[in-house]
Amino acid sequence: MADKRPIGVFDSGLGGLTVVKEMIKQLPNEDIVYFGDTGRVPYGTRSVETIRKYTLQDEKFLLNNDVKLIVAACGTVSSVASDTALQLPVPFFEVVSHASKSAVNATKNGKIGVIGTNATVKSEQHKKHILKFMPKSEVITVSCPLFVPLVEEGWYSADDLVVTKTVERYLKPIIDFGADTLILGCTHYPVLSDAITKIMGKDVTLINAGTSTASAVKEYLAKNNLQSEKNSASHKFYVSDKPDSFRYQASILLGKDIDETQVQEVDLSSL
Ligand code: DGL
Repeated sequence: MADKRPIGVFDSGLGGLTVVKEMIKQLPNEDIVYFGDTGRVPYGTRSVETIRKYTLQDEKFLLNNDVKLIVAACGTVSSVASDTALQLPVPFFEVVSHASKSAVNATKNGKIGVIGTNATVKSEQHKKHILKFMPKSEVITVSCPLFVPLVEEGWYSADDLVVTKTVERYLKPIIDFGADTLILGCTHYPVLSDAITKIMGKDVTLINAGTSTASAVKEYLAKNNLQSEKNSASHKFYVSDKPDSFRYQASILLGKDIDETQVQEVDLSSL
């Protein structure tokens, strides 16, 4: 039985568009409703209680849009608020476990690095998943709080000295540790992939959580016969602040331009 309802994706802001990018690549026929909480971003520096409160509202908004499943694109939400999914009437996908599994499959020396926001690193969720899949692995986690503002400023080129110096300073402990695999545990980090590879070297495998999660969603839909059978797909974007800088940010994070008519501002305060 096909299911033509959209997939719901949410994030603390526009960073989750890197996950949408991977979903569009792997699931070109699926409609997507995206909610970016641009009015309350960032989540990564907030308390667990606040992140959980916002997450419940984000999920409620997507449920009101009749989605068939929900993807938490946000590394921070996935790390500290995944258990809110227990209350959901639809399947829920977070980005931590899928990225951890991909890292375990990729590593050869069993040394895995994880980078994310402060909240993500503090939660140690990646480490828990990695050790469950591969008990003999070694994991190092580092928070990189300046990566998000760098990307949002449009500073992500591997030829930009400010970018490479910042990347080098954060990743030095991971290089010294000898990790051969690095999980990009935050929505924005895939945009810095070239700069990270320049510093870490080509032999280090970068794990894009969006790619891993889109594969898991694809597998789930196929297994349960829930794919959309349409030949084209619509993508709708909702934000909680004025969508002024949406076009610029979206072109960086999604890798293509979005028409402003596809973007709508919503107020979640009553949910
Ligand atoms: N989307 C967040 C994440 O992936 C990064 C931005 C924020 O701190 O809210 O962790």
